[in-house]
Amino acid sequence: MVFLILSASLYFDMSKSGFAELFCRNNYLCRMNIANSIYSGKIGWQRLQEVIPVYANAGIFILVDENTRKLCLPLLLEKCPVLSHAVIIEMPGNESNKTIEGVQKIWDDMVAANAVRKSLMICLGGGIITDVGGFAAATYKRGIDFIHIPTTLLSMVDAAIGGKTGVNLNSVKNQIGVFALPEAVFIFTEFLKTLPARQKLSGYAEMLKHAMINDESMFEKLIVLNSPEKVCEEQIVLESASVKMQIVSKDFKETGIRKSLNFGHTIGHAIESYSQKYDPDPLLHGEAIAIGLICESFISMRMFGFKEDDLKKMANLVNWHFPHYRFNPRPADELLALMCHDKKNTDTTKLNFSLLCKIGEPVFDQVPGEKLIRESLHFYMNLEVGFFV
Ligand SMILES: NC(=O)c1ccc[n+]([C@@H]2O[C@H](COP(=O)([O-])OP(=O)(O)OC[C@H]3O[C@@H](n4cnc5c(N)ncnc54)[C@H](O)[C@@H]3O)[C@@H](O)[C@H]2O)c1
Ligand SMILES: [Zn+2]
Repeated sequence: MVFLILSASLYFDMSKSGFAELFCRNNYLCRMNIANSIYSGKIGWQRLQEVIPVYANAGIFILVDENTRKLCLPLLLEKCPVLSHAVIIEMPGNESNKTIEGVQKIWDDMVAANAVRKSLMICLGGGIITDVGGFAAATYKRGIDFIHIPTTLLSMVDAAIGGKTGVNLNSVKNQIGVFALPEAVFIFTEFLKTLPARQKLSGYAEMLKHAMINDESMFEKLIVLNSPEKVCEEQIVLESASVKMQIVSKDFKETGIRKSLNFGHTIGHAIESYSQKYDPDPLLHGEAIAIGLICESFISMRMFGFKEDDLKKMANLVNWHFPHYRFNPRPADELLALMCHDKKNTDTTKLNFSLLCKIGEPVFDQVPGEKLIRESLHFYMNLEVGFFV
């Protein structure tokens, strides 16, 4: 049976159709038709202890990176002593190891430790671990069960949810992969205690995006909280994760509404690549997306009358928490080329954007055109001289 639970503070109900209907206190409904569940809090730790023995005979593998081995694994083993016999597999936690060679090492370790079709992989880490571990598990012996225990804010609200797994190819991000759902996602916000502030900021940007796509009250709540620390509270993390879960449940393979999750990302991804090319200490994904959110809100204002007041609130929030990014002179041409993934062909008439008519009302497959994209980049660059008033 398909079911979904979200912590003791949210209510769940099973319908006869096999759909799970989830109500949280602000009365929104998440209707699942995919085998995916989120657990958290005490219920989560209990459920994890119940699930693990099912796989004990076939072997349990925990994928970690150097930081989650040191900072997160001890808590997991303390809370779930049944995992003391699990095989630990460590991969270096950086984007350059998110490759098919990185996956091969995991497969090799699994073969060496006799992993079988009924073994379980637990991915304990940020988005790199959940993307790579999910892919390694989904392809090992044509697919073994896996569970995500995300440990960064970004992976709790985004990367661990929705079943996209994969690796980079020749430094093009996420070129190889499969859609594969974990058996469950366990969100334990206590892991965030050791997460560096900059990594929290990165997840904060995705939470802001979720709120903007979702509804006015969630957006206002984040504006009022005005803090990447305060949004690490369990209830707020779960609400944000539910936004993604809800959208993914309607459009798993991203043929329609799931594209709305790309809001801020057409420009954001180009800025991320630009920064990786020029900066010794490049922007994190969420830091680039925060800029993308500002630019794409500006485009939304011009194309669909997105409220200037909401653009102002959001831009000021981002400018308050995120360091202002200084581009080299004349970056717009290069950013446009990066958006088109092609230096020679910058045909912006094919550049698709996901935008907002207003908070809570996304539109996708929109083509703003080169002039407006350039204007939006200049809008961000001019914010350097002060806040948007
Ligand atoms: N599959 C998806 O839908 C999806 C969505 C968004 C992002 N992603 C992918 O996620 C990746 C980025 O994920 P991320 O931002 O979580 O980065 P990450 O996995 O690189 O983790 C960031 C850093 O934090 C460390 N870390 C993790 N948990 C920690 C903790 N609790 N305490 C201290 N340090 C900790 C890690 O070791 C790493 O150094 C990218 O590869 C991106 O492509 C995937
Ligand atoms: Zn993102």
